[in-house]
Amino acid sequence: MLQGRKILLIVSGSVAAFKALMLVRLLRAEGATVRAVLTAGGARFVTKESLAAITGEAVQDDLWAAEAEIGHIRLARWADAVVVAPASANRLAQMAHGLAEDLAGCILLATRAPVLVAPAMNPAMWAHPATRANIATLAARDVHFIGPEDGPMAEPESGPGRLSEPEAIAYAIRTLLASGPLSGRHALVTSGPTHEPIDPVRYIANRSSGKQGHAIAAALAALGARVTLVSGPVALPDPPGVTVRRVETAREMLAACEAALPADIAIFAAAVADWRVAREAGQKLKKQPGAEAPTLDMALNPDILATISRHASRPALVVGFAAETEKVVEHARDKLARKGCDWIVANDVSGDVMGGAENAVHLVTGSGVEDWPRMPKEEVAARLAARIAEHVA
Ligand code: C5P
Repeated sequence: MLQGRKILLIVSGSVAAFKALMLVRLLRAEGATVRAVLTAGGARFVTKESLAAITGEAVQDDLWAAEAEIGHIRLARWADAVVVAPASANRLAQMAHGLAEDLAGCILLATRAPVLVAPAMNPAMWAHPATRANIATLAARDVHFIGPEDGPMAEPESGPGRLSEPEAIAYAIRTLLASGPLSGRHALVTSGPTHEPIDPVRYIANRSSGKQGHAIAAALAALGARVTLVSGPVALPDPPGVTVRRVETAREMLAACEAALPADIAIFAAAVADWRVAREAGQKLKKQPGAEAPTLDMALNPDILATISRHASRPALVVGFAAETEKVVEHARDKLARKGCDWIVANDVSGDVMGGAENAVHLVTGSGVEDWPRMPKEEVAARLAARIAEHVA
C-alpha cells in the first residue's frame, strides 16, 4: 500500500504516455499523492489538463514558470520516489548525461529520492548501443528499471520496447518504497542456467528454468531489499522492482556478480555449467561426410559461489544451492565446507524439480538441518527470505 506516499511522476514523450494516466489512478487508489511533470515530448501525447484532472494536482511543465519558487528543488525534495513513465530514449540519454535543460532534468539531478524508470521506445532504439550504454550508466547509479516488455508496438512491429503495464509499474513502486525487514540491504541472487558455446550456433546448457532463483529475488525485494538478479538465459519475466543483469556464460555470470558487490546477502541459485568447451569454434563446426564425430576439449568453469565466498568483499551471508540426486544432506554438508558458504539449500533433483513448479528442500546451516515439506517454489522463496531477514536482523 502507498498510503501517504508522495510520488513525482515524470511523463516523457512516447505514444504509451496514456498508460501514465492509468498508473496515476492506481497509485491514488492506494492512497498515494501524485504530482506530475510533463515534458515537451510528453505533452505531444497527453494533455496537461488530463494529468491535472487525474492527479488532482497542478501539473508542472515549465522550468522557468516554477523557478520563482525554485520549483525543481521543492519538487525534488517533496517526492518519496521519482518515477519516469514512460521514459523515452531521449530522456534516458539526458538522464545518463545529467542534462538539466528542462524541469524534469533539473528534478532528476536534484532529487535524493529513489528513481524508477519505465522505458518505452521502438525495439531498434532500445537495442541501440547508445541506449544500452545509457541504461548501464543509470543502473550503476542505482536507478531502478521496470521493463520494457516484449510485445506489439504502436507501429506494425514487435519486440522489447513496450512500456510495462500500469499494474506492473505500481508494483515496482511499492517494492521500491517497501519498508520491510530487509530495507537498506543489498541482495545478490543468481538464477537460471548458463549457456556455454561450442560454436556460433551450438551450446551446452541444462534444464534449469530460473523459477526458484527469480522467486527468491522477488521475495527478497518484497521484504524491502535492493536486489540485483544475475540471470542466465530464461523465459521468465523480470521480477518487478529488481535490477536484472542478463548473462550467458559462467564467466560472464561471475563478472556480473563481482561487479554487483558489495552486497549484504548473496544467494546462488543458478545452475552454473561446471565445464565449458575449451576453445569455442569461430565458425559452425561442419559435419564432414564419412568423418568421425568431433571430440570436445572441456575446461573448468570458475565456481562463482566459492569465489564470492572467499572474496575480499564477501557478503555477510552467502547461501548456495545443492542439486543432488542421492545422499542429499550429506553432500550438502560437504559442500558447505568446500565452498565456504554459510548455508546450503539442498534439493533432490532426481524427480521433476528442475523446470517444475514445486520444490522440497533441506536448509543446511552451521547449526543443523531443517527439512521443509514440498511446496511451490514461490513459498520456498518466501520462507527463505523470511529466514534471511530473521538472521540479518
Ligand atoms: O558444486 P555444485 O555445482 O553442486 O554447487 C552448487 C552451488 O554452487 C549452487 O549454489 C550453484 O549456484 C553454485 N555454483 C557456482 N558456480 C559454479 C558451479 C556451481 O556458483 N561453477
